[in-house]
Amino acid sequence: MNFNLTEEHKMIRDAARDFAKTELLPGVIERDNQQQFPKELVKKMADLGFMGIMVDPKYGGSGMDTISYVLIMEELSKIDASASVIVSVNNSLVCYGLEAFGTEEQKQKYLTKLASGEKIGAFCLSEPEAGSDATSQKTTAEDKGDHYIINGTKNWITNGGRADFYLVVAQTHKEKGHKGINVFIVEKDMEGFHVGPKEDKLGIRGSDTHTLQFNDVKVPKENRIGEDGFGFKFAMKTLSGGRIGIAAQALGIASGAYELALKYSKERKAFGTEICNHQAIAFKLADMHTEIEAARLLVMKSAFDKDQGENYDTSSAIAKLYASKVAMEQTVEAVQIHGGNGFVKEYHVERLMRDAKITQIYEGTSEIQKIVISRSVLRN
Ligand code: CAA
Ligand code: FAD
Repeated sequence: MNFNLTEEHKMIRDAARDFAKTELLPGVIERDNQQQFPKELVKKMADLGFMGIMVDPKYGGSGMDTISYVLIMEELSKIDASASVIVSVNNSLVCYGLEAFGTEEQKQKYLTKLASGEKIGAFCLSEPEAGSDATSQKTTAEDKGDHYIINGTKNWITNGGRADFYLVVAQTHKEKGHKGINVFIVEKDMEGFHVGPKEDKLGIRGSDTHTLQFNDVKVPKENRIGEDGFGFKFAMKTLSGGRIGIAAQALGIASGAYELALKYSKERKAFGTEICNHQAIAFKLADMHTEIEAARLLVMKSAFDKDQGENYDTSSAIAKLYASKVAMEQTVEAVQIHGGNGFVKEYHVERLMRDAKITQIYEGTSEIQKIVISRSVLRN
């Protein structure tokens, strides 16, 4: 067992750290205030290879491993979780799904553009009546021989108004339940596809979240991914990797808040000394550091499992469950350490606290992670 990062991993982490500080930090408060999608920054992240981190270079990707992915996600999320979720969805939900299960034609046509960052992807599983209960898909994909006709509504879709290609989950054979579900690549200009209004959110306000409407959208058969009925397994397998990305996002939010709180506690004086010299604050810092280190080990373990070709369904659920709890709890502590300054935007920790909450909700709520973990525990 080796807990040290390689020199290459350190270089990748430092590149992401440098980018986050120089490019993401300057406008992050304004983008949060204005709910502004970081369009130009996405292009810059693409130039650094962050939109197709794990994709094979022959499809336009960076060919890095999952450890590199989580290092990049952590560094971006320390500063701007809205930017990091764009990276996470494009990488682990869209690019991964296409690379692992797409045909060579689909990879050439779609993956190459997504991995290079020329185009942006979205992953459309959730519906008004199918969130946690994801098998209850109401969106239909009617088999018409050489094409499918998709009808229905998807909600909460990240990159919803900005994406070019959408992976859309829909029910084809209702009588077969989850075994009748398929997944399709839908292009944004296909007739009958509509983007609804943007959501006004508590956190990750710079990311773009929309309801999508599909009215008789005609999708060629060659845009179905995998065998007929593979769509639900596709979604579950893809989400296992996605959960590693969101766990790394949560880790970044927590460690970003911790670093700010540590610095502030060494500068702010009360009762004649820096507040870090009061044991109540020092112990908070000790707890924060301990919790974040524990979360980091779980996130790394899950990424390591994926890189080693081991099953990561459970370790990714554990990492996401724990890291998101740490993010929520420790960002609250970071606000507390900042006192009144923690309550205003200028000091960044209130935004990190708001951003932390989503990591307990999307890509499977904490309760859903416990379902996945408990089923695994009871199976073994
Ligand atoms: N890999 C492969 N197959 C899997 C799987 C996995 N990880 N997990 C489940 N399956 C298979 C099961 O084996 C089963 O197939 P068989 O009948 O052939 O064995 C099938 O899927 C159905 O599984 P379950 O019976 O376990 O289904 P369930 O109804 O009990 O639900 C669940 C399971 C884990 C709760 C699932 O519905 C779930 O994960 N829900 C949460 C949905 C979610 O995470 N949504 C995220 C949307 S994307 C997003 O949020 C992006 C973003 O914000 C940025
Ligand atoms: P519900 O499923 O209605 O859950 C409500 C509550 O009940 C939760 O606390 C839940 O944990 C609990 N609950 C439900 N079932 C059980 C159970 N069996 N046992 C115990 N507790 C249970 N989805 C996408 O497909 N693509 C995206 O890009 C995407 N991006 C998102 C971005 C944002 C900002 C948000 C807010 C959501 C996004 N989602 C996306 C949707 C997200 O995945 C869902 O919100 C999430 O899976 C929960 O579904 P729900 O909101 O319908 O809540």
